[in-house]
Amino acid sequence: MKNYIFRDLKSKKDKEDLLEFLRHQTNAEFGGYRLFDGTRTHLMHIPEELTDLIVFLKNYENNNKMKFSNFLEIGFNSGKVNTILHKFFNFKNIVALDTFTAEMSSQELLANIVRKNLTLICGRSDRKENLEIIKKFQPYDLIFVDASHEYKDVKKDLDNYSKMLSDKGIIFAHDIQNEDYTGVNKAWKEFKKKNNFLYKEFSCKKYFFSLGVGLAIKN
Ligand SMILES: C[S@@+](CC[C@H](N)C(=O)[O-])C[C@H]1O[C@@H](n2cnc3c(N)ncnc32)[C@H](O)[C@@H]1O
Repeated sequence: MKNYIFRDLKSKKDKEDLLEFLRHQTNAEFGGYRLFDGTRTHLMHIPEELTDLIVFLKNYENNNKMKFSNFLEIGFNSGKVNTILHKFFNFKNIVALDTFTAEMSSQELLANIVRKNLTLICGRSDRKENLEIIKKFQPYDLIFVDASHEYKDVKKDLDNYSKMLSDKGIIFAHDIQNEDYTGVNKAWKEFKKKNNFLYKEFSCKKYFFSLGVGLAIKN
């Protein structure tokens, strides 16, 4: 399936096609082609950053002869990015959590919980009972932290969930450069100082919003 967008990202053209595809899912403020239309179905990522992230993860799998099979997402929202990542990595198992209190499209939520092996938890990421459930599925090869953007919550999420990583696993956080949520940046910086991981960041500051993605790689 040479022309299918969710293919191996081997060539420059594959990467350019993915970037273009993501621009169509994203509002102009993030570098996309859409106007905010109230449906809340737009991708809340900068296309360049998400493309770089996916390409990096694909290369990481190849270079380390491993597969991201167990994925944890803290802050699922309506699951758009969860599905995009699943299309590329075909996870064996996904665990995701959200309070489902943010505005989102219920139709899109429904579309993004099907056709995957998903355990979806409704509740706060720092609730003891939820942490216990999530622990049962550890270790995770890939963990995405993107729930509350308050400093103390991000700090807790990074501390709690990074402990659930498999060897060579990667935990990544979104919005590390978002000026509306400076607590994420503070928590991310502190995490980096405290923890002996390898770090990588993707940042594109060309658009109205700056978001930023930070990866901590267990080595
Ligand atoms: C930015 S959205 C997540 C977007 C999604 N990860 C993506 O990339 O498309 C943040 C989500 O976190 C959820 N949330 C906020 N505070 C939370 C908390 N304390 N525990 C769990 N989820 C929370 C919100 O309901 C919202 O859906």
